[in-house]
Amino acid sequence: MSTTKETATATDLSAGISASALADGDIMLGRVGEQEVVLARSGADLFAVGAYCTHYRGPLAKGLVVGDTVRCPLHHACFSLRTGEALCAPALDPIACWRVEREGDRVFVREKVQAPLRSPAVATPARQLPSSIVIVGGGAAGVAAAEMVRREGYDGPLTMISADADPPVDRPNLSKDYLAGEAQDDWIPLWPNEFYAEHHIELLLNRRVVSIDTARRSVHLEDGSDRPYGALLLATGADPVRLTLPGANDGRLMYLRTFADSRSIIERSRDAKHVAVAGASFIGLEVAASLRARGIAVDVIAPESTPLERVMGTEVGRFVRRLHEKQGVVFHLGQTVTAVDGRTVKLSGGATLDADFLIMGIGVRPATTLAEQAGLALDRGIAVNEYLETSAPGVFAAGDVARWPDPHSGERIRVEHWVVAERQGQVAARNMLGGRERFDAVPFFWSQHYDVTIRYAGHAEHWDEVRIDGSLEAHDCSIAYIRNGRPTAVATIGRDRDSLKAEVQLEHMRPGSPQIK
Ligand SMILES: Cc1cc2nc3c(=O)[nH]c(=O)nc-3n(C[C@H](O)[C@H](O)[C@H](O)COP(=O)(O)OP(=O)(O)OC[C@H]3O[C@@H](n4cnc5c(N)ncnc54)[C@H](O)[C@@H]3O)c2cc1C
Ligand code: FES
Repeated sequence: MSTTKETATATDLSAGISASALADGDIMLGRVGEQEVVLARSGADLFAVGAYCTHYRGPLAKGLVVGDTVRCPLHHACFSLRTGEALCAPALDPIACWRVEREGDRVFVREKVQAPLRSPAVATPARQLPSSIVIVGGGAAGVAAAEMVRREGYDGPLTMISADADPPVDRPNLSKDYLAGEAQDDWIPLWPNEFYAEHHIELLLNRRVVSIDTARRSVHLEDGSDRPYGALLLATGADPVRLTLPGANDGRLMYLRTFADSRSIIERSRDAKHVAVAGASFIGLEVAASLRARGIAVDVIAPESTPLERVMGTEVGRFVRRLHEKQGVVFHLGQTVTAVDGRTVKLSGGATLDADFLIMGIGVRPATTLAEQAGLALDRGIAVNEYLETSAPGVFAAGDVARWPDPHSGERIRVEHWVVAERQGQVAARNMLGGRERFDAVPFFWSQHYDVTIRYAGHAEHWDEVRIDGSLEAHDCSIAYIRNGRPTAVATIGRDRDSLKAEVQLEHMRPGSPQIK
């Protein structure tokens, strides 16, 4: 985030700069009056837009210009340079635009302008619009779909039903700054409560859909009511894997999925001295980091010999382990928790630990019960085609619950990534409105451990080789997962722009693409 001093010293773009100062694809930070603006060049065109991403204020000057868009270096949101529109999640709100004028070789950024709006989907002639839209799920996919349905100009009935007690929240934050005590409660809701009424979104909270009648096109809720739908989106996400552990029946086992879960952990942490975390998953380790920030002693128990090895490879896994050990986390690897007896946690190796409570981070399962009951095709998740349609007409699925044909790996995959869930929600929204858009985004996720953020583009369940360029210890590297001679995923630490470049490269990769040297 920049300071007022930096704003004062940034190039005054209203005074003009030489057009040749910016080559094709360049982007620079400047200011117009008090406002920070970036000037970007795409071919012969120059654009001036707001300097910060509307998701988490990522600095767009450090992003990547791709055609007439700019991508944010932090979590890869993509904005139109022409209109400022947030084209791809996780940003949902637009950035401002300024008028650019050329006089000879000089470029001047003039006043802020109302950018021309693109034509919304509903304006397309002969579109078959659904009579109503129901979204089951108030998470990443559901919320992004609801927002996109309205952005595309649909004004029919739109209902979002969530089993969560809270309106949609920034779930990734629940294991990070919020749990560490560094983010306020009011940072967590994705939108203020009024947003839903203003956008005519009927938001039903604490309500569970228990069945779907795909013939009558209606969902049935636990409270006995029904909601008819013209198009239905299943965005039911995933549920934490729950264990029945001998002795663990006094509320000592805690899980983390919802805002309420995170609040409960914080409440219990207030006078805790020692917490055990079962599972060295991304979430388990983020929880460990956040509890260390609260000064709590943390033990992590996990069956693998190296944390995150299956996803990130051995070297990165060992690095992440060292990172946590330096902060005082104690690992018990190659072991599981077998029982809990009051404050005593028993491990499969025979050791015992003393803990105020135990947090389970042992993975999630896609929430497929509804889909299964409705007879939809399943494939370790809800099976969808490239348009995110399920096997039932008018029923779509998106997010953690959906397994889709990924054109980049040539495999059917299901992931648990925030950005993927939101982008699938956006594509599903346009397809529910009669579009025919393939979901072909390169998967992306990030994970934060103390001052280290890992960004990961692509998808690699298997690889032949891991190539590390740079230094893990210096927190400055990119890690390519190579299969059949080409990268299928690239992780970076401290090289955010390289992560964007890798994403662009992976977008052009298909099975059979030329091999790299
Ligand atoms: C603590 C935590 C930290 C994370 N951090 C990261 C991160 O750093 N980076 C990253 O990429 N990903 C992260 N993730 C993963 C990311 O949050 C998920 O991939 C994303 O939330 C999936 O979105 P979704 O919409 O598919 O499901 P969810 O966000 O889980 O939403 C599912 C919704 O469906 C509702 N629901 C389920 N069944 C029913 C029903 N029968 N009736 C009504 N409602 C129902 C639920 O109540 C919920 O509202 C994190 C996840 C957690 C839990
Ligand atoms: S801050 Fe830009 S995508 Fe998150």
